[in-house]
Amino acid sequence: MQARGEWSSKIGFILAASGSAIGLGNIWRFPYIAGKNGGAAFVLIYLIIVVLIGLPYMLGELAIGRAAQRNPVGAIEAIRPRSPWKGVGYLGVLTGLGILSFYGVIAGWTVGYIFKMLSGNPGDFATFISDPVKVILLLAFFILITAGIVYGGVSGGIERWSKILMPLLFVLMLGLIIYANTLPGSGEGLKFYLMPDISKIDGSVLLAALGQAFFSLSLGMGLMITYGSYVTKSDDLFSSAGYIVLFDSLIALMAGLIIFPALFANHQSPEVGAKLVFVVLPEMFAHMSGGAVVGSLFFLLLSVAALTSTISLLEVPVAFVVDEKKISRKKVVWIVAFVAFLLGIPSALSQGANPFLTHFGLIPQRLSDPDFLSQMSFVFGDFSLALGALLLSIFIGWVWGADKAAAEIKQGSKTFGAFFKAWVFMMRYFIPVVIFIILLNLFGIFD
Ligand code: TRP
Repeated sequence: MQARGEWSSKIGFILAASGSAIGLGNIWRFPYIAGKNGGAAFVLIYLIIVVLIGLPYMLGELAIGRAAQRNPVGAIEAIRPRSPWKGVGYLGVLTGLGILSFYGVIAGWTVGYIFKMLSGNPGDFATFISDPVKVILLLAFFILITAGIVYGGVSGGIERWSKILMPLLFVLMLGLIIYANTLPGSGEGLKFYLMPDISKIDGSVLLAALGQAFFSLSLGMGLMITYGSYVTKSDDLFSSAGYIVLFDSLIALMAGLIIFPALFANHQSPEVGAKLVFVVLPEMFAHMSGGAVVGSLFFLLLSVAALTSTISLLEVPVAFVVDEKKISRKKVVWIVAFVAFLLGIPSALSQGANPFLTHFGLIPQRLSDPDFLSQMSFVFGDFSLALGALLLSIFIGWVWGADKAAAEIKQGSKTFGAFFKAWVFMMRYFIPVVIFIILLNLFGIFD
């Protein structure tokens, strides 16, 4: 990202924002959270939340960014100077670091699997992730590449490559959907994934779906404020956001269409948690002709998808420190990346390498698995994003003013006018109230 540039085109913006949104959240996190939360019932709630909360809320973040032309902290400061609202910007910066730390660990595993698949014998996943040296080196490697790209500017290579590699990921996934659904026993998986059992919906399912929606769409920590600040006034934010949400949901749904049929064909439990993708897919590739190459290619493309997300995660804290502390960008990138690496080490060691971190368990079992990585994923990937979105929606709806925000979105859009009033209502009432209730429920208020 340039100091204060503009996206070269509407398509450039949609691709960059989709690159941030589409990542491990869609292919690793969505299926495992769905598996733990009842399958199809979760998927249904997830899609409802994406349309009714994710999409309108995303427009709100984009509107602040384009109106203020600043990073999240600076944008809030410009709209309401010297107020405590700036804290929401700081929360976003902290959340970015928190997510990057555990995300880098999973991304490291993904890189590891490029080579493991190619070797023809991926071996045991649990053994692999409990090897402290390997997982820490892979984390360091992934953070290093991310930092290198953020350091050198996003616009060059990575944009060009992801334009080729992301459509390739899409095509490969289409092929894998067909393959997985022809396996004997896969029909049960499809049923689990697509036929909702409404009785499975409870408060923790709602929070999981809300958290996952924000995580997958890169919302709740000001990323879309930053990306919105590079959009020109003549662009249509409304239709752009529509495409981003569509692409992101499509990839997540497709991931489930591969994983659950393959899982049930293998007679495994959908509730295995964070390791789901890494256990189910290598097993599927092992029985496939040419599976070593296909599997290796799959993990390579997944690594690239993860990389376009970690770039955006690193960019938020970096842009903030550069703006506020006036330290040179080149120095800041390495400092922030190093902090994220250090913060990632306990997550890396929490998958068997260190017993204390593996059974950390500070947060109740009903909300998160006990290992440190899952707990980080809950605190930063669910809770902080929901809290950030609650505060930002109040800020947009009431402090800045939903009418002003809606006027900003309307500029450049031919179609948004028809939704103007509905959007104002959603931003002021519906979104903050729903998030607030779901958060209260988290503390067991309604038990
Ligand atoms: N959305 C990404 C994913 O699904 C993760 C991510 C990147 C993110 N940037 C973000 C999440 C900003 C929240 C906020 O993999």
